[in-house]
Amino acid sequence: MTTGAPRVLPADSGIAEAAAVLRAGGLVAFPTETVYGLGANALDGRAAARIFEAKARPSFDPLITHLADAADLPALVGAVPAGVATLAERFWPGPLTLIVDRPAAIPSIVTSGLDTMAVRVPDEPSARALIAAAGVPVAAPSANRFGQLSPTRAEHVVAGLGDAVDVVLDGGPTRCGIESTIVDARGVQPVVLRLGALPVEALVEAAGPVIVRPGSSGQPVAPGTLAAHYAPRTPLTLGAAEPAPGDGNRLGFLAFRERPADGWAAVEVLSPEGDLTVAAARLFDALHRLDAAGVTEIVAEPVPDVGVGRAINDRLRRAAATWH
Ligand code: TXA
Ligand code: MG
Repeated sequence: MTTGAPRVLPADSGIAEAAAVLRAGGLVAFPTETVYGLGANALDGRAAARIFEAKARPSFDPLITHLADAADLPALVGAVPAGVATLAERFWPGPLTLIVDRPAAIPSIVTSGLDTMAVRVPDEPSARALIAAAGVPVAAPSANRFGQLSPTRAEHVVAGLGDAVDVVLDGGPTRCGIESTIVDARGVQPVVLRLGALPVEALVEAAGPVIVRPGSSGQPVAPGTLAAHYAPRTPLTLGAAEPAPGDGNRLGFLAFRERPADGWAAVEVLSPEGDLTVAAARLFDALHRLDAAGVTEIVAEPVPDVGVGRAINDRLRRAAATWH
């Protein structure tokens, strides 16, 4: 439980103060183009430990390290494998997380003891300015309690984490709305470990065929790929587009596009025009609102399974799996 409110500062004018908090070992929630991150100095094991505590995150769930600039990667990790360099050059700054060997400078708590590290350069000017001002790499998972909905607004962070975080930078709603795509490109063929805001099709165009393996390993190395994750507090079911007679007053409906939706207690339309990018940007915000609408169950309609739609369906399946 949280006991108070964190300091909320504007994402532009609050950067110097937030950077000082990071340098002093504190926690700063900040906007990225995907979701809000809960940041700490990635070189400071004690600071990183506070992230796990604030999120009630199991210690086996490794963090993503964020850099201000792609040019900072070799300085941190040394030689960069060719496949990693290709994707970094093409997609950074952007919603792509890459796997590299963990450098000695990064304490093992950040990677949960793995000898690999997840790293990305966010495509959000205030995030990059914050990291640059802090002068250290910033470890940041999504700024929500473990297993719950990801935050796409500063208000979601404050409601979920309260004063477990020292400062929240408020940059308004995030642009992509869904987490980064995680790719291990160290080998011959890139392996997608988590579907996300960068569509698989874009990876294929840049790097040729890829293997998509989100969560198939069942290993605890990528809990963002646990079967049950990203869950609202209200039970969520995937599928049916009509409320059954008699229960319509209690059900919420998450629709992909504009459609007749009589009989539901609450309806959220992700994109009236059926645009997947818009739908991704609104996904978690819509689920947060349905969660607060007092319905007993949320019924979510799957979206077309192409582009970022694959990541949306992935999140909906994992949210539903919590309850079934
Ligand atoms: O868009 C994003 O990626 C956001 C923003 C804040 O950057 N961050 C985010 O972090 O989604 P988080 O902690 O919610 O998810 C990170 C995922 C976890 O599922 C974690 O297990 C996986 O990345 N991960 C971290 N290090 C890894 C590694 N070395 N190998 C495989 N998976 C790793
Ligand atoms: Mg997360």
